[in-house]
Amino acid sequence: MSNNLMKKKLQGKVAIVTGGASGIGETTARVLADHGARAVVIADIQPEKGRAVAESIGLQRCSYVQCDVADEEQVAAMVEWTATAYGGLDIMFSNAGTVSSSPQTILDLDFSEYERVMRVNARGMAVCVKQAARKMVELGTRGSIVCTASTAAEKAMVYLTDYVMSKRAVLGLMRSASLQLGKHGIRVNTVSPGGVHTPLAAKQGMETPADMEKYIGPYTSLKGAPLMGENVADAVAFLASDEAAFVTGVDLVVDGGMIAMPFDLSN
Ligand SMILES: NC(=O)c1ccc[n+]([C@@H]2O[C@H](COP(=O)([O-])OP(=O)(O)OC[C@H]3O[C@@H](n4cnc5c(N)ncnc54)[C@H](O)[C@@H]3O)[C@@H](O)[C@H]2O)c1
Repeated sequence: MSNNLMKKKLQGKVAIVTGGASGIGETTARVLADHGARAVVIADIQPEKGRAVAESIGLQRCSYVQCDVADEEQVAAMVEWTATAYGGLDIMFSNAGTVSSSPQTILDLDFSEYERVMRVNARGMAVCVKQAARKMVELGTRGSIVCTASTAAEKAMVYLTDYVMSKRAVLGLMRSASLQLGKHGIRVNTVSPGGVHTPLAAKQGMETPADMEKYIGPYTSLKGAPLMGENVADAVAFLASDEAAFVTGVDLVVDGGMIAMPFDLSN
């Protein structure tokens, strides 16, 4: 069969990408479209950037919807709009996230920051998984839900107690939801990136790709190329596709070997 007659792996699928106005979400929205998604909805709180991304993807059915992921009414309305406008919902990439720009050690934890981070990263993920799953069950769709966790769900971080806690919560959400939604044929997985150069990483002081290499490079076993948004997006596309038809309840770590790094006891 010639290449252009081969079915693309997300052919005909309708996808929502939260946090799709920037970084990993933006790249993933493009990659899902490249893999043949029929419609991609970018749900975010940055209207200018979100609209620009939606327009630049060049897919006829690609829209920006203003939506705060932690607001259940807004998420329910966004999911309803997507399913009505594009005739279904097959993929929810729940990816929107935030981080503190100030150190949050346990001795100095600022609970207003803690609540802001947990609201988006933990509650926001639960709201999006709940509303997407309810719509998929209603439509009888054997859909795929992918949430963005982080290597921070597995490893402590020197400064970001609240962020680490929020990402650990995403793993708990994914495992619980995968168990409960399996009987509906709905798969739920997470992707855990290491360090990708995005505005979120910049807030942690890694403002340039060179900063990323300096801070992250020593902790990855794969050398010679940094982790790119595309590497994470490819993992999401796999989890979203029928190639992963029997994969659920799994955290797919995309970190160049960061979590697997041993202690160096050589000296
Ligand atoms: N960049 C990394 O190194 C890295 C590593 C591990 C995990 N992650 C995770 O990846 C995800 C994407 O982060 P990124 O690095 O692409 O950052 P980013 O800042 O480029 O993108 C995050 C997006 O989420 C949106 N967002 C924030 N709060 C929102 C809300 N309440 N409602 C809707 N949208 C909201 C932002 O507007 C932004 O467009 C996050 O969940 C983050 O925790 C990032």
